[in-house]
Amino acid sequence: MQNNIRNFSIIAHIDHGKSTLADRIIQECGAVTERELGTQMMDTMDIEQERGITIKAQSVRLTYVKDGQAYILNLIDTPGHVDFSYEVSKSLASSEGALLVVDASQGVEAQTIANVYIALENDLEIIPVINKIDLPAADPDRVVEEIEQTIGLDCSGAIYVSAKTGVGIRELLDAIVDRVPPPSGDEDAPTKAIIYDSWFDNYLGALALVRVFDGSIKKGQEVLIMGTGKKHQVLDLTYPHPIKPTKTTEIKTGEVGIVVLGLKNVSDVAVGDTITDAKNPTKEPVGGFQEAKPFVFAGLYPIDTDKFEELRDALDKLKLNDASISYEPETSVALGFGFRVGFLGMLHMEVVKERLEREFGLDLIATAPTVIYRVKLTDGSEVEVQNPSEMPDTGKIDKIYEPYVRATIITPKEFLGNIITMMADRRGIQEKMEYLNEDRVMLVYAVPMNEIVVDFYDKLKSATKGYASFDYEPIDYREGDLVKLDVRVAGDVVDALSIIVPREKAQFRGRELVKTMKELIPRQLFEVAVQVSIGNKIIARETVKSMGKNVTAKCYGGDITRKRKLLEKQKEGKKRMKAIGKVHLPQDAFLAVLKID
Ligand code: GTP
Repeated sequence: MQNNIRNFSIIAHIDHGKSTLADRIIQECGAVTERELGTQMMDTMDIEQERGITIKAQSVRLTYVKDGQAYILNLIDTPGHVDFSYEVSKSLASSEGALLVVDASQGVEAQTIANVYIALENDLEIIPVINKIDLPAADPDRVVEEIEQTIGLDCSGAIYVSAKTGVGIRELLDAIVDRVPPPSGDEDAPTKAIIYDSWFDNYLGALALVRVFDGSIKKGQEVLIMGTGKKHQVLDLTYPHPIKPTKTTEIKTGEVGIVVLGLKNVSDVAVGDTITDAKNPTKEPVGGFQEAKPFVFAGLYPIDTDKFEELRDALDKLKLNDASISYEPETSVALGFGFRVGFLGMLHMEVVKERLEREFGLDLIATAPTVIYRVKLTDGSEVEVQNPSEMPDTGKIDKIYEPYVRATIITPKEFLGNIITMMADRRGIQEKMEYLNEDRVMLVYAVPMNEIVVDFYDKLKSATKGYASFDYEPIDYREGDLVKLDVRVAGDVVDALSIIVPREKAQFRGRELVKTMKELIPRQLFEVAVQVSIGNKIIARETVKSMGKNVTAKCYGGDITRKRKLLEKQKEGKKRMKAIGKVHLPQDAFLAVLKID
């Protein structure tokens, strides 16, 4: 039975055509009609469709006939963004093969490389697939050479396709059957399955998408989730399909399927956990289970302080759906009651904030994102700091350690200078520089995560006209010479604005910060001083002049509608303001720290 199963993933850099190829494969296997293909099926969340990125892995079970023999092809989708690399690794661990999709007009990109390494670590059969050969700019032979050079992967069996026109898709499906090895689990051993994706369904509760390695999962079986130690009954089982999931009574060795346990919370079926039989459990879980760890933290506060409980409810609901967010209540003198929320990365943070605003109708202020610092105190103890305003006083600090990441950047050589300057400015240490061909270069840096957490990706794109690609992985903690900058508005420290910066940049950042704040703070009825300090020492200062006059004064009393409009606009503006003491700060001011270089 296992001989007829092929489990494979698709790995690709963003926009190289993973979703289009998946749709085309589904269509070729007759699982959907041309009409149903109308919208891209593999990306289902609203935000995913708008941004054209895959966040949650989807899967589909297909049937393909080759030489009169029917095969089950399980296509295991992977998320396409660095923030979700933990989920990528679990999807890949559930497959025996991977299609490495590379755009024939673009070539190898940073994300491609990161994912191929994960696939190689998992011993997957990799089939290089050169996509978009219909494009006039396509140069598949050059791309094949590039893959061989950078990754050292034999590309003699590379398959040239166009996911758009369908050219090469049959050949690709044949190659999957011929080259991807079938699963080889022990059918008689105790149940052993890995959860490689989970999500919340309004009707069925938390669902686990699993790959069975040994034994099988049966409807009605009592199973044990090894990470949580909890036992549940299997209520239902289905084979995954974007439009027509079909029910089954057993998911056998080597297969993938969706397990319904009637649970309310996705953290009970977290990605990476192992499902086994409750009475006859397997000895070892699959691979090492790690909880997906948040790397980036920010405060989220309702603009309207009465909405704190609503924010809590919304976060509780999101958590049912997304086990990787973590949050705890936090108070800020400036912003009142809110939450300190942990995210997998910057994109994850944006998605969560957007969902809270869109799906729950909340207006939120997000404070500048930060990383986790480890601080060794003079008394020998160590603390973790996730919020700059909680950084201990300088006198109590012995050493501060900050997280570093390994950043891989691939760029056309004309932008090399820009990138080297940019990385030096961000305290990057170059580890490698390698030409992929005569035009393109791969750079590898160790760099403090603090330096890339904010707007690095946008800056990189603008420094390279959008041509560079970038990926990163956490490596270690290193000592840093860092200080906390406090912002004072009209003499009061606005705790939500504190940031941690390298000492050598403190002066410059401080001056930039007060300048930006000055522009963002509307004139009030009185003069407002904006200062930046390290401890009690003021290092920069600007003044917002008083407005003095009534806003409607310049309307000469004549045009009454215009006057009303202006007043309404002012009221609207106020709603989005936060009162800090007597001073009203617009939402933007809390992100001023993001706007400086
Ligand atoms: P993520 O979901 O973010 O990982 O992106 P993706 O890799 O799934 O890319 P997607 O399938 O969304 O394709 C990106 C763009 O390339 C879309 O505009 C597609 O229409 C286009 N595209 C995909 N395959 C082909 C192809 O074979 N030829 C041409 N000309 N365009 C293609």
